[in-house]
Amino acid sequence: MKVLSVSNFNFSEMKYENSLSFARKLDRLDPLKSFRSKFHIPNVNGKPSLYFAGNSLGLQPKTTQKFISEELKDWAGLGVEGHLHSRRPWLYYHKFSKKALAQIVGAKTSEVVAMNQLTINLHLMMVSFYRPTSKRFKIITESSAFPSDQYAFESQLKFHGFDPAEALIELTPREGEYTLRTEDILQTVQQHGNQTALVILGGVQYYTGQLFNLKKITELGHLVGAVVGFDLAHAVGNVALNLHRDNVDFAVWCSYKYLNSGPGAIAGAFVHEKHGENFNLPRFAGWWGHNESERFQMKKGFKPMTGIDGWQLSNVPVFQSAAHLASLEIFQEAGIKNLRKKSLLLTGYLEFLLNEIDADKTFFEIITPAKPDERGCQLSILMKQNGEKTFDRLMKAGIIADWREPNVIRVAPVPLYNRFEEVFYLADKIKQIATR
Ligand SMILES: Cc1ncc(COP(=O)(O)O)c(C=O)c1O
Repeated sequence: MKVLSVSNFNFSEMKYENSLSFARKLDRLDPLKSFRSKFHIPNVNGKPSLYFAGNSLGLQPKTTQKFISEELKDWAGLGVEGHLHSRRPWLYYHKFSKKALAQIVGAKTSEVVAMNQLTINLHLMMVSFYRPTSKRFKIITESSAFPSDQYAFESQLKFHGFDPAEALIELTPREGEYTLRTEDILQTVQQHGNQTALVILGGVQYYTGQLFNLKKITELGHLVGAVVGFDLAHAVGNVALNLHRDNVDFAVWCSYKYLNSGPGAIAGAFVHEKHGENFNLPRFAGWWGHNESERFQMKKGFKPMTGIDGWQLSNVPVFQSAAHLASLEIFQEAGIKNLRKKSLLLTGYLEFLLNEIDADKTFFEIITPAKPDERGCQLSILMKQNGEKTFDRLMKAGIIADWREPNVIRVAPVPLYNRFEEVFYLADKIKQIATR
């Protein structure tokens, strides 16, 4: 693995400048600049777009095609024998992504696996880790959790015979604020402490881009006797995580955003090793979670594997997983910590430029936290006027961002493939459209 140095970037002394030449200088200094050439950049009007929608769908690595073609070739040439004799034997496919995923989320390889899709994994984890009793049954979450999560929470509560109106406790920002204060999260957890079965939040909030303090939230959840889980859809591959060290009970994520594994890509899950040998936990079972050495004996009686592997249900979707491996290879080369360092600088530059355009917040306001350690790469720009017009004109100009009702433009400068120069053009275009 190539070790990269990001020492060229001196954060503490960084003084941003509002000029194209400065942006280009940062691009020249960027030790990760070569990674952009590993991705296909979509064209708009015959020219490479400025792609800021990696928080929605990450770009395609150029190696994805090779990885998938290799599997197609092995299938064509080997048929069923490919399960054991292809270059990456399909029988063991879930193992090939473990090392990279463990590095990305800060876990042991036995704690992570790529499987299913995010909402499915959320349900599987809740089957095991949301174990309500008549006294302790509440779920604490964000009021604006992603809708799929809200539906999952409601349906789990109803499945166990609880009324979501009573049992779902939603964290809401203070009047006039957009993001949650950690002290308010902690206060709510304390307030409902002895009735709370599960605390579950996003790692990075999908709408505001707020990065939660996983360690503190986990500590407090445990202190009141609750289980703590996270939906890392917007955090994985975006910020450096430490799920094992932070003692998180479980986590789930998708891989089509920052993990660049393609639309509807295979998702992932984490279960802390302290639960990995707890076979008394209820779980929904399938043959891929069964003890590997006996899996093909076709006997009755489910015997789960230790660790997260024991939560797998079905055999591995190889084409999706091949795409996943292509992207994970790039992450291993770049290193998530290096990416995060660049990301802080790249997003910081966008914030600086936007604040220069509209210092009094007349036309728009960034609702993502200003503290770098409270956000990932995304900035959410709340448009006070001309919101949809600005968004439409950005798109027409080949700047791909994403619009969230009622009035937010989300932009995500992604350190693997976005440049400082692109950030400069984005801010300049917003200035031209939004402020007149
Ligand atoms: C935060 C969050 N949770 C859940 C989902 C739903 O994911 P899936 O359709 O992969 O289950 C998404 C999708 O974008 C999301 O952003």
